[in-house]
Amino acid sequence: MSLWRTKSIEKALEAANNNGGLHRALGSMDLTLLGIGAVIGAGIFVLTGVAAATQAGPALMLSFVVSGLACIFAALVYAELASAVPISGSAYTYSYVALGEFVAWIVGWNLVLEYGVSSAAVAIGWSGYFNRALEGVGLGLPADLMKAPHEGGLVNLPALLIILLVSVILMIGVKQSSRFNNLIVMVKLAVIALFIVVAAGHVEPANWKPFMPFGWEGVMGGAALIFFAYIGFDAVSTAGEEARNPQRDLPRGIIGSLVICTIIYIIVAALLTGIVPYTLLNVKDPVAFALAQVGERLASNLISVGAIAGLTSVLLVLLYGQSRVFFAMSRDGLLPSVFSQVHARFRTPAPVIMVTGAVAALVAGFMPIGQVAELANVGTLSAFAVVSIGVLVLRRTHPNLHRPFKTPFMPWTPILAILFCSYLIASLGAVTLWRFVIWTAIGVAIYFAYSRKRSLLAIGAPL
Ligand code: ALA
Repeated sequence: MSLWRTKSIEKALEAANNNGGLHRALGSMDLTLLGIGAVIGAGIFVLTGVAAATQAGPALMLSFVVSGLACIFAALVYAELASAVPISGSAYTYSYVALGEFVAWIVGWNLVLEYGVSSAAVAIGWSGYFNRALEGVGLGLPADLMKAPHEGGLVNLPALLIILLVSVILMIGVKQSSRFNNLIVMVKLAVIALFIVVAAGHVEPANWKPFMPFGWEGVMGGAALIFFAYIGFDAVSTAGEEARNPQRDLPRGIIGSLVICTIIYIIVAALLTGIVPYTLLNVKDPVAFALAQVGERLASNLISVGAIAGLTSVLLVLLYGQSRVFFAMSRDGLLPSVFSQVHARFRTPAPVIMVTGAVAALVAGFMPIGQVAELANVGTLSAFAVVSIGVLVLRRTHPNLHRPFKTPFMPWTPILAILFCSYLIASLGAVTLWRFVIWTAIGVAIYFAYSRKRSLLAIGAPL
């Protein structure tokens, strides 16, 4: 039965309040920008290319609608939990109070895929744009240093190095201040606006035919892949202890950033496949590439530079989120205490950042982006599905919990979230699903071998 032991919401809220120290400085605008900062990245700047060329064709815009819907349903669920339980730890914490320790462990374990593994995919995307910028000044790297062994190269060196660099920055504690984040988000939105304005003048409707070259299956395969573009909106919910008015502003931030990104994505997908034939888009930097193809060199270069900045900020948020999740799990006793150690001088959880950064760097250096992104997606989709179950359970077990934001259309919204997420999971490749099964099995083994006995709940220590 101990598998299902839950953390008490009241105690967790009290602990978060007493934990003092964290400055409540973020309003709903900051939170929305935080979400956009974490979301817009390799999905739109990189994966759109391979998804259009190999899966969806011009119907990529439909793929964005499908995965956007899955996210909207999940976001409405997250918003309720984020407003009722505004404690850092996000899906991991929600599961701990709603579904018990074992499920929480599995969700936390899978959040490693959402944050840690997806940071590797973003780094690979970063590397593609970075090398194009180097090529622009005649310093392009040899192909062997730009590709994983599986793609015929040696190592993706820039991808590996950027993760190490960002980890060091996080370790010495250059805080990603909200103002800095807002600035980068503006740069990102500006280059996307530039793309939209310039590309709109070059659309050839003939490029949209055939619209669905790979049929509905292609659209769904594309949706399962570019779901990656939406990963990160839930990062807003990790800022619960730093929001000025979390009950009102967390739901606004989560839903606001998601709606803005969904609209942007559909427009960009339509334009990208409208200005060049989708068959040409299987490149490392499709957005810049497409503009260069239609002769817009200056705009293409500006987009490369903006993408490099934007992808760096996504990396910061994801690696930061990863360290936060492991930190929370270790604080609860589920992981060795070294993972919640704070460096005396830097005042950051340096050991956990070091370990996760090193592992993510290896993944970035030696795996191709498509495989890494799919693995990140399956982890995230499964976490969304579990959190949706959690909201249903909490309504039963804690009917009187104060819920400043209530998920509308209960129970249909979480049910739809579960169905959409499951459908997208089923649309991923078999290899990805196997990897996910193995990853989960390792997590279960660690839980039973280590975490179960050492959990603070198990030994009755105060949380
Ligand atoms: N959604 C983020 C990206 O596309 C992870 O880079």
